[in-house]
Amino acid sequence: MTRLLKLRSQRWLANDDFRSFNHRSRFMQMGYDRGDWDGKPIVAIMNSWSEFNPCHMHFRQRVDDVKRGVLQMGGFPLEMPTLSLNDAIVKPSALLYRNMMAMEVEEMIRCYPVDAVVLMGGCDKTTPAMLLGAISADLPTIFLPAGPMLRGNSQGQTLGSGSDAFKFWDERRAGRITETQWEGIVSGIARGPGTCMTMGTASTMTGIAEALGMALPGASSIPAVDAGHQRMSTQAGRRIVQMVHDDLRPSAILTRDAFLNAIVVAMAMGCSTNAIIHVIALARRAGLKDVGLDDFDRISRDVPVIANIRPNGDSRYLMEDFYYAGGLPALMTRLTRHLRLDAMTVSGQSLGRNIEDAKVHDDDVIRTPERPVYREGSLAVLRGNLAPGGCVIKPGAMSEKFLRHRGPAMVFDDYPSLKKMIDDPEADVTEDHVIILRNAGPKGGPGMPEWGMIPLPLKLVRQGVRDMLRISDARMSGTSYGACVLHVAPEAYVGGTLALARTGDMVAVDVPSRTIHLDVDESELARRRARWSPPPARYARGYGRMFIEHILQADDGCDMDFLLTQAGESAGEPDIF
Ligand code: FES
Repeated sequence: MTRLLKLRSQRWLANDDFRSFNHRSRFMQMGYDRGDWDGKPIVAIMNSWSEFNPCHMHFRQRVDDVKRGVLQMGGFPLEMPTLSLNDAIVKPSALLYRNMMAMEVEEMIRCYPVDAVVLMGGCDKTTPAMLLGAISADLPTIFLPAGPMLRGNSQGQTLGSGSDAFKFWDERRAGRITETQWEGIVSGIARGPGTCMTMGTASTMTGIAEALGMALPGASSIPAVDAGHQRMSTQAGRRIVQMVHDDLRPSAILTRDAFLNAIVVAMAMGCSTNAIIHVIALARRAGLKDVGLDDFDRISRDVPVIANIRPNGDSRYLMEDFYYAGGLPALMTRLTRHLRLDAMTVSGQSLGRNIEDAKVHDDDVIRTPERPVYREGSLAVLRGNLAPGGCVIKPGAMSEKFLRHRGPAMVFDDYPSLKKMIDDPEADVTEDHVIILRNAGPKGGPGMPEWGMIPLPLKLVRQGVRDMLRISDARMSGTSYGACVLHVAPEAYVGGTLALARTGDMVAVDVPSRTIHLDVDESELARRRARWSPPPARYARGYGRMFIEHILQADDGCDMDFLLTQAGESAGEPDIF
């Protein structure tokens, strides 16, 4: 059967010429022979395992499960290591390296004799990075999500990634927990392999990969240590070989309908704000210019949040509970009114077929649309003179009293000066102030560090204040919460209005009417603009410099300008043979 296939890898291995001699002899150097590769699809298993990345530490073993599946179906699996980005550890920001990883994935697929790809990722930026590269390479591809960790625990108390870290850090600053309790939280909040187990960026993005049709049905919800994760990995190995026979590529899956499905599911999950940037970048790579911020805002008004998971939902429920409740396929059965069920997926079947047999096992964890966590408002996109290109906020994860707020700005040009105020017990700040942090955007950060959930001033924390309006051109962790306006575009570093704001200016935010306004008249803004100049670039050379020169703004997905693809345009391959 496979001998009839016209395989890309045969261009390296099947010809009787000098180049093929070299390729074959080097394959034989690794102990392989014709029986391994002749007429068989070569499946690159791109593995982002690293001893620096706790979220992917099980991938070292899991790759064997994928290989087993590939071999069972007559393919030839070869593991290929990639960059590994751990969102909690990489500094200054993993987003800075998302595009580097995407370029690596694309070029490694292109330059080796690869017929199909299994992408092993899951920690926040690795999912979009790998998908971005694979979209441009456009060979049959399955994304294999790392799966969430089990719930955290300390002294009998359930702990959730991120959200409890922020919460207990504030408690510690306020002197309300002991050192022993704090150390218990440090050691108990992440107990084993897998991604953050709240509905943060990792779980949102792997869910989006599945909703896009790029992961096997149900794959994104299985906890990393569950035996079902091993079985899913083997199924991915089996299925990828069949995808070569079917010639099923990302370009046949990633239509506008697929992206609208992904946004619907993201909204129902309670969507990390980071996902907006990644989904727009993925759509642009797929040649779809018509997927943008307005789709998020429109769908957010229509689709209720029904995943009752932290940080948006009930603090008792984490991704483990979501899996037991039926996981993503079950959630999608409650969204059929909003989904394009004909969209094709890597299973070889439509999204509708994939979820036909799915069932919700816990109506409190996966709510009905009639009894949602929030009727609307997973995300809101605000526009106004402070953000003509748009900015985002999570109405479902903030104090209602800040949905409409007008207050005096306190402006900070960098994180160290902000931190000084935050830590000052005598700071001249009230709950009504609007804290602004700028020069933390795509170019200014660079890479939009997750500084957007600006810590509350110590003075106010001690008074019991738990939320304030905060504005930045930065991002925030998907596990964060609060009245934080993020991704202001254009950013301050390129001269957006945010760069012109001054302490004492009045700022008005109105989430229901989707507006954000700096109360300074145009002539004064023009005077300030004439005197403005950008701060010095943080990188003079290397990848950082290339990033600053080519990164697009948040509302365009933060891809590199030279990596975009036009609709219907193939990224193409160099004519090597
Ligand atoms: Fe890896 Fe959160 S740090 S998913």
